[in-house]
Amino acid sequence: MKAVSVIDYRLRAKRRIPHFLFEYLDGGSYSEVTKKRNQVDLKSIALRQRVLRDVSNIDTSVEIFGESYALPVALAPVGLAGMYARRGEVQAVRAADAMGIPFTLSTVGVCPIGEVSAAATKPFWFQLYMIRDRSFMRDMLELAREANCSVLVFTVDMPVPGCRYRDYRSGLAGEGHLRGNLRRIYQAMLKPRWAWDVGIMGRPHQLGNVSPVLKGGSGLEDFMKWMGENFDPSVSWLDLEFIRDHWDGPILLKGILDPEDARKAADLQIDGLIVSNHGGRQLDGVTSSVNALRRISAEVGDRVVVCADGGVYSGLDVVRMLALGAKTVFLGRSWVYGLAANGQKGVEHVLELIRKEVLTAMALTGCQSISDIRKSVVELERTSAD
Ligand code: GLV
Repeated sequence: MKAVSVIDYRLRAKRRIPHFLFEYLDGGSYSEVTKKRNQVDLKSIALRQRVLRDVSNIDTSVEIFGESYALPVALAPVGLAGMYARRGEVQAVRAADAMGIPFTLSTVGVCPIGEVSAAATKPFWFQLYMIRDRSFMRDMLELAREANCSVLVFTVDMPVPGCRYRDYRSGLAGEGHLRGNLRRIYQAMLKPRWAWDVGIMGRPHQLGNVSPVLKGGSGLEDFMKWMGENFDPSVSWLDLEFIRDHWDGPILLKGILDPEDARKAADLQIDGLIVSNHGGRQLDGVTSSVNALRRISAEVGDRVVVCADGGVYSGLDVVRMLALGAKTVFLGRSWVYGLAANGQKGVEHVLELIRKEVLTAMALTGCQSISDIRKSVVELERTSAD
C-alpha cells in the first residue's frame, strides 16, 4: 500500500523496526492522556472555509531569526534517531536541507554533531538538555558553534525523565543489562531488514554526542536510566545565564506550557520558546500543546518568537497551530515515522505530504501567505480546547 499520509507512515514504521524502538517513539507517559489530548484538541479546531480569493499564488515561506525557510515547519529533536534508520540523523538533515526547513539535532542522537555537520549543506539547529557535567555543556556549545548551528534549542521540561510504561514493557527501560539486551536482540531478529541495515551496518550505536565524554557506557544499555542519572534536576531560571554566557546565537526554550513561565522567559529576553508538553512524554495529565499555545501567544506573542509542537500529524494541524499563534511548528514523531519507514526518502515524502496539505488548507481558507494565517482562519468558538 502506498503511504499517502503520516498515519500510513506510522504503520510502515511499526512493521519495519523492532518493537522497543517503535514503543519508545510512539509512546507517551503513564496513561498517555496528554498525548491523546494533543491530537484531539488540535483536530477539534474547525478551519473556516473561505471562497473566491484568488489563491493561484501561495507562498509558504517564513523567516525565523533572519533565515528564510520554505515552510513554517521544523524537525524536532528526537533521541535515538540513528536507531530508526542507518545513521538516521544524517539522513534527516539531508531531507530537511532538501526541503528547505531546519533540522534539530538532539543531544541524545546517535550520530555526533560532527558527522551531522559534515552531511549538512545549511546551518542546522542543536538541542541541549541541562546535563550535570557543566564542562560537557561548555564543550557541547562550543562544538555546536563550530558546526555552524544557528539556533540553540534548550529543553527545560525534563529535569527528570517522565515514566513511560511502554518502555518498561518493551525492554528499553528497567531491565538488567543482560535481560534487556536479550529482549532487544530477540525483537531485532524479528525484523531482519532492520537488523541488517541498521543493527549491523548502522554502527556504532551509541549516544554520539555524549558517550565520548561521559562515563558509564554508551547510554544505550538502559537509556531511560542513563537520562535519569545524567540530566540535572537542579536546573533553574538562573542557569539560563550560564547558557547565555556560552552561546551568543538565538535560544529557543523548549517545553514551556504555562503563561507565567512564558512571561518570565520573555522578561529574561529569551529569543523564543517552543510551547510543548514533550509530545505527552513528560507529565501526563497536563493540558494539550494547542490549548497552552493559545494562552501563551496571547501573553507573549508580541515579545518572543512562539513556536509549538505536539499532536501535529498533517499540514492541516500545522495550519491550526499557526492560526493560534505559532511562528513555526515542530514535527517530532511524524518525521521519525518517515525515517523509520524509508530513511531520507521517507522524511522527504512526509514533508512533501505536509507541504501539500498546508497548501490545500491555505487555499481553502483563503490565505496567500503564512502571515495571512491568523485566528480568523479558525472557528474558535467551536473548539473543545478550553
Ligand atoms: C527525550 O527527550 C525523550 O522524550 O525520550
